[in-house]
Amino acid sequence: MPRPPDGEREVRALRAELAEVREQLREAHETIEMIRSGGAESLVIGPPGQEQIYALASADRTYRLLVEAMNEGAATLSADGIILDANPRLAAMTGRAAAELIGTPVTGLVTGGQLDTLCWLIDVGAGGSSRGEVELTGPAGEAVPVQLATSGFDLGGTLLRCMVLTDLTAQRDAEAGIQALNAELEARVQQRTAELVRANKNMEAFSYSIAHDLRAPLRAMTGYSEALLEDCGDLLDESCRRYAASIQAASERMALLIDDLLQLSRISRAEITATTVDLSAEVAAIVAELRSAEPGRRVRLVIQRGVLAAGDRGLIRTVLQNLLENAWKFTAKRENATIEFGAAAAGGSKIRCHVRDNGAGFDPGYADMLFQPFQRLHAASEFPGTGIGLASVRQVIQRHGGEVWAEGAPGEGATFYLTLDLPT
Ligand SMILES: Nc1ncnc2c1ncn2[C@@H]1O[C@H](COP(=O)(O)OP(=O)(O)OP(=O)(O)O)[C@@H](O)[C@H]1O
Ligand SMILES: [Mg+2]
Repeated sequence: MPRPPDGEREVRALRAELAEVREQLREAHETIEMIRSGGAESLVIGPPGQEQIYALASADRTYRLLVEAMNEGAATLSADGIILDANPRLAAMTGRAAAELIGTPVTGLVTGGQLDTLCWLIDVGAGGSSRGEVELTGPAGEAVPVQLATSGFDLGGTLLRCMVLTDLTAQRDAEAGIQALNAELEARVQQRTAELVRANKNMEAFSYSIAHDLRAPLRAMTGYSEALLEDCGDLLDESCRRYAASIQAASERMALLIDDLLQLSRISRAEITATTVDLSAEVAAIVAELRSAEPGRRVRLVIQRGVLAAGDRGLIRTVLQNLLENAWKFTAKRENATIEFGAAAAGGSKIRCHVRDNGAGFDPGYADMLFQPFQRLHAASEFPGTGIGLASVRQVIQRHGGEVWAEGAPGEGATFYLTLDLPT
């Protein structure tokens, strides 16, 4: 076979060499892709017999995967602020592909107004770090609030900076939602409070004027029935005199009820001047008065000494007076009547006091009703009263920011509890 001319042989050899270089290039490209994607564990380099194995740290690969999957934006910056690497989350936050971000200055992530903040936050040296908030420019040009944490590293004499960016949009939206809700609640509370204050004022004025206006016709009823009995008593038969006497008794009772209503209304409007009140001393003084009014009664008293509370002395005395008068009244039919006053810590800055007796007691099913005006659980013929005392007690205690409640059982006595502030 004739040999090809020299020129042709050369062309063939060149072609073969070119194909081999191309193949080597393709392999190199594949290798780089594998290193990039973390698909290669190690590299074998060198001619047969002299191969060197370079292990690609698997921790590094895990780290790369982590950065790709992170919910935070992440980027690596060169010393002069050029983005060397950006993860998909940062790409999504800015609306630009990661490949598009790489090679551009980091300052392109924000608008002019945020530039100073950004530069200040990324200005860290090797080993340094910073953290702060800045607004990125979002996909549609909107501001995306982020928390930016920057750390500086020395990589073989070159300064590198890593940025981690946490999107604060959802947090800001939630905060704004809560703020709007709070403002709306606040407005509603203010409106309700204003309505309540107005309604309360109206009620007070109403009951006060009713109580006053009722007095005049009442006085007329009492006066005329009295006159009827005195002037025409002889002309009336027995039943007519009874009718006139009943009118008089009823109008006198109504006058008493009106007095009680007025007292309750006064209590709800009275100014509170808070001082330290020695409750034990008040109890002892009230009981001494009760004893001197009814010296024939034998009642055992147990008073805990030195119980102090903060409050208006006059109003608190009204409370204790009502509770002790009740205890005194409802033990009237008891042989070994005992009345006890004591106190215990109620948690926080409160003290819980109690007045206990072993008297008539009451049905516990109605314990809450006792504090309503004119609600009585015992017949007036058995235990006299109008039923306003405990309503006043509740009014005063509530105005002092405390609570009052009762426990009892028929024939087994009653205990009234109340809470007040401890003295400061
Ligand atoms: N210590 C107690 N033991 C048993 N029942 C009580 C006691 N204290 C109050 N009550 C019940 O609660 C009702 C209301 O008490 P409250 O002090 O308001 O009225 P009152 O004592 O009947 O009349 P007022 O105090 O207006 O003279 C009483 O009528 C009674 O039925
Ligand atoms: Mg009473």
